[in-house]
Amino acid sequence: MKRKPFVGGNWKCNGKLSGVKELLAAFKGIGADPKSVDVAIFAPTLHIPAAQDCLAGDAAIQLGVQNMSKTGEGAFTGEVSAGQVADCGLKYVLVGHSERRSLYGETDEDCAAKTKADGLTVVFCIGESLAERQSGKTTDVCEKQMKAVIPVISDWSKIVIAYEPVWAIGTGVVATPLQAQDTQYQVRRCIRDECGAEIADSVRIIYGGSANEKNCKALGELPDVDGFLVGGASLKPTFTESVPTLQ
Ligand code: G3H
Repeated sequence: MKRKPFVGGNWKCNGKLSGVKELLAAFKGIGADPKSVDVAIFAPTLHIPAAQDCLAGDAAIQLGVQNMSKTGEGAFTGEVSAGQVADCGLKYVLVGHSERRSLYGETDEDCAAKTKADGLTVVFCIGESLAERQSGKTTDVCEKQMKAVIPVISDWSKIVIAYEPVWAIGTGVVATPLQAQDTQYQVRRCIRDECGAEIADSVRIIYGGSANEKNCKALGELPDVDGFLVGGASLKPTFTESVPTLQ
C-alpha cells in the first residue's frame, strides 16, 4: 500500500462497560506505530470516557464516535455536535454508515452536512445493496454517494472513504478481492474526475463488510484498498491482527 493504512473498529451498539475495559486492555500496547498506520476504535458514545481512560498514554489507538449531529450546539435534544466531539479529545467520526442511512433515514444531504465537521477526520461510508450490485448499479450508486459529499469537502487530508457493500455487512459474506478492487478503483477514479489526481492518489479508501483478521491480508494487498472498517470482528481481541503493519 502506498498510502498510510487506516484500520477502524466499529463496535456499533454492542457491549457493556466491563467489556470495553477488557477489550481495550487486550488492544493496548499493540505497538502499532502511528507514523505508519492509523488505528481507531469507534466505541458507543456513552463508553468513550471509559475508553479514553483505558487507552491513556497509548498513542497507537485513537477513538472516534459512530454518529453526530448535522447541526451545531443549541436546542437539539439528544444530539452531539462535531465541536463537542472534538472538544472531548476525539479525532474521528463515522458518517454515512449504511445502518444510519437505512435504519435512521439519513439522506445524502444529511451525510454531506455532517461531513462539514470542523476539527474531526470523517470516515465517510458508501456502498451498494445486493439488488443494486446484481443489477449492475454498483459504480453508479457509489458515485452518487460520493458526488453528494465532494462539494462540501475542503480538506481531503481529513477524509477517509469506507467502501462497505451493504450485502457484506454482518453477513459473513466478504467481497472478493476482485469486487473490492474494482469498486474501490472506480471510487478513486470518480474522485480523480471530480477533484484531480493529487487528491485521488492521496485519499485513503478502506474496505468494510465481514472483514476480519483472516481475510484482510489478501484484501490489504490490493492497490486501491488502504485498510479496513471492521465491525463484528473488532469486538474480539484478535482484531489487532487486522492491522497491516502488525501482520
Ligand atoms: O462498520 C463496519 C461495517 O458495518 C462492517 O461490519 O464487519 O460486522 O460486517 P461487519
